[in-house]
Amino acid sequence: MRVAVLGAGHVGLTTALCLAHCGHELSLIDVDSARVGQLGQGQLPFYEPYLTDLFNRLRGELPVSSDYAMVADVDVCIMAVPSPTATDGGVDLTFVRSAATSLGQALRQRRVSEPVLVVNKCTVPVGTGRLVFELIARELADEGDVGAPRFSVSSCPEFLREGHAVFDTLYPDRIVFGVDREADGRRLQQLYRPIIERSFPEVAPELTAAAAVSTVMTTSIISAELTKYAANAFLALKLSFINEIAAISSAVGASIQDVATGIGLDRRIGRAFLNAGIGWGGSCLGKDLSAFISISREYGLPTQILDAALAVNERQRAVAIRLLQEELRLLKGSRIGLLGLTFKPGTDDLRDAPSLDIARRLLTLGASVAGYDPVVREVPVPGVTVVASVGALANGADALLLVTEWDEFADLDWPVLAAVMRQRIVIDGRNCLDPARVEAAGIKYRAIGR
Ligand SMILES: NC(=O)c1ccc[n+]([C@@H]2O[C@H](COP(=O)([O-])OP(=O)(O)OC[C@H]3O[C@@H](n4cnc5c(N)ncnc54)[C@H](O)[C@@H]3O)[C@@H](O)[C@H]2O)c1
Repeated sequence: MRVAVLGAGHVGLTTALCLAHCGHELSLIDVDSARVGQLGQGQLPFYEPYLTDLFNRLRGELPVSSDYAMVADVDVCIMAVPSPTATDGGVDLTFVRSAATSLGQALRQRRVSEPVLVVNKCTVPVGTGRLVFELIARELADEGDVGAPRFSVSSCPEFLREGHAVFDTLYPDRIVFGVDREADGRRLQQLYRPIIERSFPEVAPELTAAAAVSTVMTTSIISAELTKYAANAFLALKLSFINEIAAISSAVGASIQDVATGIGLDRRIGRAFLNAGIGWGGSCLGKDLSAFISISREYGLPTQILDAALAVNERQRAVAIRLLQEELRLLKGSRIGLLGLTFKPGTDDLRDAPSLDIARRLLTLGASVAGYDPVVREVPVPGVTVVASVGALANGADALLLVTEWDEFADLDWPVLAAVMRQRIVIDGRNCLDPARVEAAGIKYRAIGR
């Protein structure tokens, strides 16, 4: 199929490259001309495992432009533009509105009789499918073409995880088709057939080996839109739940990891998303939870559980500070090194990363803060230096705080690091280090509920 993707970000670029890998004919449109230029020069705008190989192989067949004229004659147009938090906690639909309007204008030039299927992958409030329809229709009506079925709108919420985006796109647990017309469901099936049937060429044997069956479900647009928010809210709940149990675990002297494994072995619960730590972050969980709360308020519905998940997460970020205060007493004049800066491993995304919040709080308390991360070279917090190695971070530090569980931190040479630290304290904010190895180097080890 001929497919245009609107938005060359984490979702759009990954979707475009994976669908091109599946044999569809792709084009990519982004209003950010700098990003278009960067892609044209063969550079990816962000780090994502396996994406570089796909990009290098397929970029010759993937036209990238800021010009919406490219969408006029495609079969499918996928929307993957931002849906950030608005100032009132709801969703800012500016980008979605603007993409729909530009799309409507471009469709005036459509020469193909078959209607284009608009597929919304943005995480958006219930009813946005209808809004997108109205905005496109308005542009076409301007030309006096209101009766011509030049398009229809569907929802296909995106569930990919940054750091696993290629795997999640090619081997999703489930694909949710939100349609209001049977014909649109059939076209989505056609678009996703290579993924559903796994008929695309293998990207990497380890991805194929990790894959499970993908389930496809078809529902209304409204149910699909709500499914995405409900999924992210539940993931946030699981994390906040285990973090609350971690506090109790700490108090009574239990091991939160054993507790999490003990409950996670129950198939009704599952072990995933039960790792206690210094709180969740990233571009999605906080934004989507806050949007979900705001949508519920529009209907006058209470959201006690969602409110609590947010509040526990806020409190959790302060736990790292409290552990540092317990060990160092005074943070004023202390040198704190942050091991890892991204909100999770496998990405260079710093949106709502706990590291930034924690760094700001430490600076306010008078500490000096440096950070090391395998893929980050600078952070948007004035006063925080990003150094080039863990050795440089440890040099003269009073404490190291592990914020992101990058694999390479599991194998650090603790005696070498201990030798250059001013005080030997390690706070493991993700419970991912081997305490015995750290302590064997004469370092005081603290973790979360462990
Ligand atoms: N990042 C994730 O892990 C993830 C996962 C699931 C769903 N989502 C949702 O997917 C959507 C996209 O998220 P993302 O992380 O890919 O965003 P992103 O910020 O990485 O990329 C969005 C891109 O859209 C471009 N853009 C903005 N307005 C445009 C317009 N009118 N026309 C064309 N391009 C435009 C921007 O320049 C940017 O390059 C959001 O709704 C988000 O909530 C994201």
